[in-house]
Amino acid sequence: MSVPVLAARGVCFSYEEGRPVLDGADLDLCVGHRLAVLGPNGGGKTTLFRLLVGALAPADGQVLLDGEPIRRNRQGLTALRTQVQLVLQDPDDQLFAASVYQDVSFGPVNLGLPSNEVAARVEAALKALCIADLADRPTHLLSFGQKKRTAIAGAIAMRPRLLVLDEPTAGLDPAGVEELLLTLGDLHAAGTTLVLSTHDVDLAYRWADDVAVVARGKVHVASAEEALSDAALLESARLGPAWAPAVARLLAQAGQDARPRTAAELYAFLARTALPV
Ligand SMILES: Nc1ncnc2c1ncn2[C@@H]1O[C@H](COP(=O)(O)OP(=O)(O)OP(=O)(O)O)[C@@H](O)[C@H]1O
Ligand SMILES: [Mg+2]
Repeated sequence: MSVPVLAARGVCFSYEEGRPVLDGADLDLCVGHRLAVLGPNGGGKTTLFRLLVGALAPADGQVLLDGEPIRRNRQGLTALRTQVQLVLQDPDDQLFAASVYQDVSFGPVNLGLPSNEVAARVEAALKALCIADLADRPTHLLSFGQKKRTAIAGAIAMRPRLLVLDEPTAGLDPAGVEELLLTLGDLHAAGTTLVLSTHDVDLAYRWADDVAVVARGKVHVASAEEALSDAALLESARLGPAWAPAVARLLAQAGQDARPRTAAELYAFLARTALPV
């Protein structure tokens, strides 16, 4: 198996003494994979992400980039941040420039790219997030969902090898969620490794290759199929099972080999199949 882009090995972290948030967390982020991270509120998803991008330092254990421990000096952290981008859960913690265009261009400008390359990246990122018409808008006047899209555009403009998104769909309208999934699909097709956290098991099922559940200090990883059918595991994350694996089981019992992953796929299947009722 190839070396993961980024990995956590036995990572331990506490904000306060005696209250570990992560207590020996292991995770491999493999090239080109899509990982959904689930877990209860306060389970440690955001903390894990901040450790992975070097914003926090583990008390014990290691974070490895391409198999090498990350160096916590300026050079090492810069190298990490050019390859790995985190979109924060709350866009107000991420956005700081006066306008949408300035915010999205900040990273590419800081990379020292020529101005025509910066402009091309910013325009592509704004288009991908359907916010090209907001380019000149002051960031403080944006709606929550618009801020969220701007923050994601800023990360995409960096063209990272690995993109980590902390609850990117929270606060987006349903069409915005679909647009984001299309954008993530394009990034995946281009070879970007993707990680997102969510409380939406159905979204995780339709989108992810693998699922990681972060709870009680540990990270439990399994295929999306396995994890999202595991009632006990999901209960530990204060979640219920996804509907799609249950529907696939019922269809299999009815002799139908179909695995609809979205409501639209299920409707299309039902419309073309005369099931005995
Ligand atoms: N800056 C901080 N100082 C002290 N404790 C913190 C800090 N940030 C988070 N915590 C605590 O660490 C634990 C894990 O929080 P974290 O934000 O990682 O959870 P999460 O899984 O992302 O939750 P959510 O689903 O609500 O986003 C929680 O108990 C939280 O109260
Ligand atoms: Mg969080």
